[in-house]
Amino acid sequence: MTIDPVTTHATAAENRKPLDIAARAAEADLPTGTEKTALVQSMFDAIAPRYDLVNRLMTFGLDIRWRKQSVDALALPVGSLVLDLACGTGDFLRILRSEGLRPIGMDLSWGMLAANQTGEPLAQADVSALPVADASVDGLTCGYALRNFTDLQTACGELGRVVRPGGRISLLEVAEPEHALLLIGHRTWFRHIVPVIGGLLSDSAAYQYLPKSTAYLPPTAELRAMLQDAGFSAINRRALSGGLSQLITATRVGRS
Ligand SMILES: C[S@@+](CC[C@H](N)C(=O)[O-])C[C@H]1O[C@@H](n2cnc3c(N)ncnc32)[C@H](O)[C@@H]1O
Repeated sequence: MTIDPVTTHATAAENRKPLDIAARAAEADLPTGTEKTALVQSMFDAIAPRYDLVNRLMTFGLDIRWRKQSVDALALPVGSLVLDLACGTGDFLRILRSEGLRPIGMDLSWGMLAANQTGEPLAQADVSALPVADASVDGLTCGYALRNFTDLQTACGELGRVVRPGGRISLLEVAEPEHALLLIGHRTWFRHIVPVIGGLLSDSAAYQYLPKSTAYLPPTAELRAMLQDAGFSAINRRALSGGLSQLITATRVGRS
């Protein structure tokens, strides 16, 4: 396993005491299992029409830059087939296409897929059982969805199954800045202001859930271990924009 030189020091997320996902969810009063899957699906169905607008406001448009950095980090040749997992309304699909890659999108929520006007091939699917042949994609992107998956270990296993040896994955997720002042500002914004904006423009319950859902994210070391078990190496974690988001990249082991 290689570690990004930028983050060779243990981050706060890595130092967090490991708890299993059920314990973390219970601590934050969040559902697990089929109850979580049903909640996530209905929540994204509900917020789909205004998802893009709230995203831009919530991140001051930085989310587009972070997705572009994620696609660039795949470092795959033009024409490569890339599965955008949990594609939502299609921001990743547009960037992948503009960079000469061949994207396909999959998502659990019919509402998000209905709002996806990219014209790229789409399928409704749950990450726990992707309708994709073994080792059939060159790369995989996944934006802001890891914490929404009901069983992250199974999801990582599916990533390892569908990506060909030598293929690349790029996983973008929320994070918390290390710098104390940035952290205070970020927490105030994310926990108190975003739910109000989301409530005014979209669905209040969904944007209350959003900051709470970070409790589902395992410590970085745990996620690295899951990816390694799923057959990935060269696992790197990079903080974006001072730690407002995090980008995890890895390469599927085996001969291509
Ligand atoms: C925060 S949105 C991110 C959408 C898009 N990737 C982006 O960057 O804007 C999370 C997405 O994950 C999808 N999702 C959640 N659980 C899923 C699952 N088990 N399988 C597939 N997609 C899932 C949701 O429906 C939603 O579209």
